[in-house]
Amino acid sequence: MTAVTVRVPAKVNLQLSVGPLRDDGYHDLVNVFHAVSLFDEVTAVPADGLALTVETARGSLVAVDGVPTDGGNLAARAAVLVADRLGVEPAVAIRIRKAIPVAGGMAGGSADAAAALLACARLWDSPDEPLLSRDDLMELGAGLGSDVPFALLGGTAIGIGRGEQLTPALARGTFHWVFATADGGLSTPAVYAECDRLRDAQGEEAPWPEVSEELMAALATGDAKALGAALSNDLQDAALVLRPSLSRTLTAGQDAGAIGALVSGSGPTCAFLAENVEHAADLAAVLAGEGVAKSVVRASGPVPGATVM
Ligand code: C5P
Repeated sequence: MTAVTVRVPAKVNLQLSVGPLRDDGYHDLVNVFHAVSLFDEVTAVPADGLALTVETARGSLVAVDGVPTDGGNLAARAAVLVADRLGVEPAVAIRIRKAIPVAGGMAGGSADAAAALLACARLWDSPDEPLLSRDDLMELGAGLGSDVPFALLGGTAIGIGRGEQLTPALARGTFHWVFATADGGLSTPAVYAECDRLRDAQGEEAPWPEVSEELMAALATGDAKALGAALSNDLQDAALVLRPSLSRTLTAGQDAGAIGALVSGSGPTCAFLAENVEHAADLAAVLAGEGVAKSVVRASGPVPGATVM
């Protein structure tokens, strides 16, 4: 085997309900993940030792400065985990081509880790009698980050626990999205901490998170308008406190006719749902003209998880 390339999607959260803070520092969640057609590509090539490079994917505007290229990168940690489990040296050069916004709330780092798990397993595991199943990779992925298992699974899925315990959701049809990226990222732990702080300040107890029936019905029937109305994100207020300019972005999308608008995950990317593919093109053009985003990209979902090319 000379090189393995894996394509891996970004996610948007259709529902992100944040429950109580646990003793391990995580929050119990209901997290409805939806994989969208904005992809990073990760190539693993046998090498003398572990090396990693990160570049912007062709045709993308994603800024990659600030992404670690040392052993701290989740994709490098993924390679080491797979090598350990298979009893080989992590002698691999990993090349990441990014189109998913960095620290943008679309799980780009988790996606790269998922892709590296799959690419390295394909490189080193036996093709006939693999030691590592897809489920094993998902378990390894959960140790790297809460969103990594979903990047392997793809589609639309309900995540509970810290988001790593997944059940595929019944979803019909294709949904069309417009994403507005922002300059600079937001730190996920900081956004969760701000969410806790806002709740404390308002004397609110964190509610136990429940799956939204409206959301599940909208997905099962493929009803984009109902989906737009059912979108929710408990981290949105916290993201808006930390990045007030996102209010303008969300309002611009709503004024431009989006049928749903929310901050993606911990932000700062904003996600807008369109009625159909033509509406998404119109919405993207209006948003780009408003100057409320660093860049505006279109994508559709659901799409499959990490896939060997
Ligand atoms: O699992 P991951 O490393 O991606 O999580 C990043 C951070 O997000 C955690 O350190 C924690 O602060 C926060 N988080 C959380 N509850 C979750 C998932 C993430 O508080 N269920």
